[in-house]
Amino acid sequence: MHYNDIDWNELWQEARRQKSWKKKNRQAWDSRAAGFARRNIDSEYAELFLQLLKPAPHWRVLDIGCGPGTLALPLAARVKSVTAIDFSAAMLHELEERAAQQGITNIVPIQASWTDDWQQLAIPVHEVVISSRSLSVFDLRSALEKMNSWATEKVFIADRVGSGPFDPDLFAAVGRPFDPGPDFIFTVNLLYQLGIHPKIDYIELARTKTYDSRDEALESCRWMFDDLSPAEEERLAAYVDGRLVHDEGGRVTLRRRARVKWALLSWDKERVQGGL
Ligand SMILES: C[S@@+](CC[C@H](N)C(=O)[O-])C[C@H]1O[C@@H](n2cnc3c(N)ncnc32)[C@H](O)[C@@H]1O
Repeated sequence: MHYNDIDWNELWQEARRQKSWKKKNRQAWDSRAAGFARRNIDSEYAELFLQLLKPAPHWRVLDIGCGPGTLALPLAARVKSVTAIDFSAAMLHELEERAAQQGITNIVPIQASWTDDWQQLAIPVHEVVISSRSLSVFDLRSALEKMNSWATEKVFIADRVGSGPFDPDLFAAVGRPFDPGPDFIFTVNLLYQLGIHPKIDYIELARTKTYDSRDEALESCRWMFDDLSPAEEERLAAYVDGRLVHDEGGRVTLRRRARVKWALLSWDKERVQGGL
């Protein structure tokens, strides 16, 4: 077999069919919006992403799958403007509320999906296009081509490495099978075949995280599962309790065996030669 015979888009689609959890539709993301915002706004992840992004004041940034504004909110003060796209109205609502509270006026939220016709929606090209943990698409090739053609300077993609934010030990403890689905290596290979050689940085989160309460620590794990049965819920709580360290002030620290790791793929438009 020759390397170029490998259809990475098809492999990606096959791996997505086999992953452990169901693809989340708009309504599923709507119902997760408030909890996602609590866990991710002002997070270590956002700070590390921004350090690697190195925003420039003249950038207009297109943030696809922006969620509650994990990156759009802190970015707004450091760039000209941010167009924040998400298909979940509840996620955009979280973002708009926080933008209003913080007096931010240069974020334009747009409810749209990866697969909508962005030309019809009059979404213009931007200096920089980002997708942070939002490459939840069936047709990876089209999504990458779209990002590349909507950027005039740079593209950034934060993609899972292995299990990403999921904790395989927790799946084992709860008694559910775990297949994380495709990760960044599919994206890198497909980009290579498209003539793009991305730079790869890694965002590695700390192994431990401190929460105000045991309930908060439980919530930081429960989001990984749909529809836990009472028995599974008990096993989840036992797993978390076995790993919690309580401090004198009533706070708790949870330690995971594996660190959460993301790959940050990026490329400069001017370096794409003979490719897209
Ligand atoms: C894991 S969150 C990431 C949010 C944010 N970018 C971050 O890094 O915190 C994924 C986001 O992608 C959005 N999303 C998922 N599929 C989408 C699609 N097909 N079109 C647009 N947004 C989508 C979800 O609504 C959700 O807000």
